[in-house]
Amino acid sequence: MTPIIAAEGLSKSFGARRALRDATFSVQPGEFIAVLGASGSGKTTLFRCLTRLVEPDAGEITLGGQRFSGLSGARLAEARRQIGVVFQQFNLVRRLSALDNVLAGRLAAAPLWRVLLRSFDAGDERLAIEALIAVGLAEHLDQRADTLSGGQQQRVAIARALAQRSRIILADEPVASLDPETADAVLGILRGLTRSSGIAVLTTLHQPELAEKYADRVLRMDGGRLLDS
Ligand SMILES: Nc1ncnc2c1ncn2[C@@H]1O[C@H](COP(=O)(O)OP(=O)(O)O)[C@@H](O)[C@H]1O
Ligand SMILES: [Mg+2]
Repeated sequence: MTPIIAAEGLSKSFGARRALRDATFSVQPGEFIAVLGASGSGKTTLFRCLTRLVEPDAGEITLGGQRFSGLSGARLAEARRQIGVVFQQFNLVRRLSALDNVLAGRLAAAPLWRVLLRSFDAGDERLAIEALIAVGLAEHLDQRADTLSGGQQQRVAIARALAQRSRIILADEPVASLDPETADAVLGILRGLTRSSGIAVLTTLHQPELAEKYADRVLRMDGGRLLDS
């Protein structure tokens, strides 16, 4: 099967610090993969290199079998939409509703202004609503982001990644600031999505027991090296 994302020989140094060393791996549709590793082991650098928000020093990335390394400008932006990102800090626009935050993820160009000017079509809105329903927030569409609980905000962030029709979600410490019960719920939702829609999830986690519980496969990072197990 063509992997959703594949990396070969990805490396990145910051000065003398080799943050990522020769990482090679691939992710299949529907896989839930957890990345475990101590703080400073290179997990965030790996994720930033995969989206090319940080440009790797060496290595190749393909998305759905198409070369992602080397793209620039509009073609890079378009290809990048296949990758949804979710962070520890949710990164929502606090004053906007859940629905408008998800719409902002759906719209390609100048998303915030298009949301504020209501410049989107019914198809965009429908996809955004479907994504919020998929994460269990049907009753909170119009609620302001900053009045939602932490777990609900993280679910909005997941819906935002879904509504952009991404094929893989990269989640960097998505449950690090949530209480254990909420963390379980959020990971359960992510896992459910891999089963229901074939989307893949690559997530960093701190707790090995959560990785055991939810992941199909666990990758370990140590000193910038990715160990496929
Ligand atoms: N922008 C940067 N500039 C300099 N050093 C960095 C930068 N980003 C990460 N590093 C260093 O790279 C190493 C890996 O960091 P990081 O990828 O954030 O690890 P993790 O996410 O596993 O905690 C660390 O030693 C960190 O200090
Ligand atoms: Mg990190």
